[in-house]
Amino acid sequence: MKTVLWMFIIFISFVIDGLAQDKKLDGKPIFIAKKCGTCHSIAAVGIIKKTTSTAKSGPPDLSMVGTRHDSTFIVKWLQKAETINGKKHLLKFAGSNEELGVLAQWLVSLKSDSLKSQRKP
Ligand code: HEC
Repeated sequence: MKTVLWMFIIFISFVIDGLAQDKKLDGKPIFIAKKCGTCHSIAAVGIIKKTTSTAKSGPPDLSMVGTRHDSTFIVKWLQKAETINGKKHLLKFAGSNEELGVLAQWLVSLKSDSLKSQRKP
């Protein structure tokens, strides 16, 4: 009986661990699934956009977007409820609010990774 209990406890701790992993908020699969990568690069995680336009006014690389906006803003921006320089985003996010939240928090979190890897001498 004791062993069964232990196995149960170990099983539960794996489940909790799994949930905690999810909480690490990996927005990359969402970013890819929602095709954000056709317009945006995120060099920090190796996403390079398909279009090769060199125009300066094109969609920005989002590696450092967290230095410009917070996640609340990004959520609203992607729902077309916010503007940047008087303009709205081209597309409204097509997915659940949960996905949008994870995506926005993940995007904001990238800045610290980039800062680490770009540390100046
Ligand atoms: C059809 C091309 C296109 C697609 C697809 C697209 N975007 Fe954009 N996005 C843009 C353009 C262009 C801008 C710049 C808008 C401006 O500054 O007026 C932009 C701006 C942004 C910004 C603000 C960047 C900044 O530094 O101010 C964020 C965040 C963003 N997009 C996220 C996303 C996400 C997440 C997706 C996928 C759900 C996505 N975009 C899909 C074209 C696109």
